[in-house]
Amino acid sequence: MSGSDRDLKRVFVKTYGCQMNVYDSERMTDALAPAGYVAVDNAEAADLILLNTCHIREKAAEKVYSELGRLRRLKSEAAESGRTVLVGVAGCVAQAEGAEIVRRAPVVDLVVGPQSYQRLPGILAEVAGGKRVVETDFAVEEKFAVLDRIATSRGEDGRRPDRESQSRGEDGRRPDRESKKRLSAFLTVQEGCDKFCTFCVVPYTRGAEVSRPVKAILAEAERLAAAGVREVTLLGQNVNAWHGEGPDGRAWGLGRLLARLAEIPGLDRLRYITSHPRDMDGELIAAHRDLASLMPYLHLPVQSGSDRVLAAMNRRHTRADYLRLIERIRAARPDIALSGDFIVGFPGESEADFEDTLSIVEDVGYASAFSFKYSPRPGTPAATAADQIEESKKADRLARLQAVIDACQKTFNHSTVGSTAEILFERRGRHAGQIVGRSPWLLPVQVEAPETLIGSIGRVVIESVSSNSLFGRLAGREAMPDRLLAEASA
Ligand code: 5AD
Ligand code: SF4
Repeated sequence: MSGSDRDLKRVFVKTYGCQMNVYDSERMTDALAPAGYVAVDNAEAADLILLNTCHIREKAAEKVYSELGRLRRLKSEAAESGRTVLVGVAGCVAQAEGAEIVRRAPVVDLVVGPQSYQRLPGILAEVAGGKRVVETDFAVEEKFAVLDRIATSRGEDGRRPDRESQSRGEDGRRPDRESKKRLSAFLTVQEGCDKFCTFCVVPYTRGAEVSRPVKAILAEAERLAAAGVREVTLLGQNVNAWHGEGPDGRAWGLGRLLARLAEIPGLDRLRYITSHPRDMDGELIAAHRDLASLMPYLHLPVQSGSDRVLAAMNRRHTRADYLRLIERIRAARPDIALSGDFIVGFPGESEADFEDTLSIVEDVGYASAFSFKYSPRPGTPAATAADQIEESKKADRLARLQAVIDACQKTFNHSTVGSTAEILFERRGRHAGQIVGRSPWLLPVQVEAPETLIGSIGRVVIESVSSNSLFGRLAGREAMPDRLLAEASA
């Protein structure tokens, strides 16, 4: 950290929503480092509090306004003891609400949209000059370019030495929170979306699709690998639409990019999220067959099983298209675990449409799935459709869908019992003598094994299952491939 302790300022970023926001929160603190900020874990200790918001589903803006109410008290208490606390709103609610936020919430000093985080130091300088700033321009290329420069200047190990904490998403997943060494990391390769599903606010808050250049992605991946990261999840709102120009001068798609990333020594596990069925091309499907390090897990939302609803959602594919695609993916990688997103109660959804959704869940046999009640997002076409579904019907359908999803998930989890899987050991378990790792299908696995194995990948025989964990034992050394044997005895 440059400067003396007196100059040190503390920023607390509260992250809502998706993994993309978790990644962005880290980039925000990176962007603030040159301005003398260090990240802290709680609002009370901070000189700057940033809410990195999500707008995708219900009452997002209202949640932010009520959080701002709490921060108003915190800010005035700090002022009474002579301390200045700045409050900012970032993320998709910032983008969607813009100046409305400073109008409604006097506590807010700055509003910054997801494409403008690289401008934070400049924005703070303006705020210090007494201005309240709203910055919601779309400048994704600039964001990537500036943040890449900051990352490069951060040094070889890809970690800021002055980092006190990491941000955590609403889902609680913080890849390296328990281990000193970061084992798994996110890497944004793409932002924005051009699909315009009629329920979705993303194309408005995150803007048009932009792919990050190959060179920058490889540089970040190499930095992560050098810092000991073994699993990288590529992120994008529509990640499989990623495209770029390779060093060979050819047009690359995500399949080609994954193949190149698989060559980086140390990066043993690759994942990507979230994909659109329309962008699953042959090369990407083949990557699931050809790349050992591409984990057999795919999040491929379908949203509904009814052709009528899919058309009204502007998903641009039918139920049969989706099922055919799943068949091709399974042919390439038979042990793949599939995951999805579903919306119930989309305007005009009949009981028969909903039953088509129940049946597609069973036809696909998802390993996991997320399901949501449709929530009208201001500014999206479906929000003003006449045939909105009443709340009680949405709630009833959601409960019925979740029961079917739960049953599928149980079936999948039980199907893994007796198999041997490569597990990336991440941290200590709840009980002494236990460590926890992640299976190729993302589920945590509890294993009786020495802590010294944390950070390595070992073969585990899955022995039993609870609702959201697997339990296993280390496979005999004879079951280990040479690569892992060397690692275990290292
Ligand atoms: N209402 C309910 N769910 C939504 N999603 C996106 N927009 C809405 C909405 N307006 C869900 C979709 C998407 C996931 C990230 O959130 O299922 O895949
Ligand atoms: Fe939203 Fe559809 Fe784009 Fe996904 S593909 S981000 S649901 S508009």
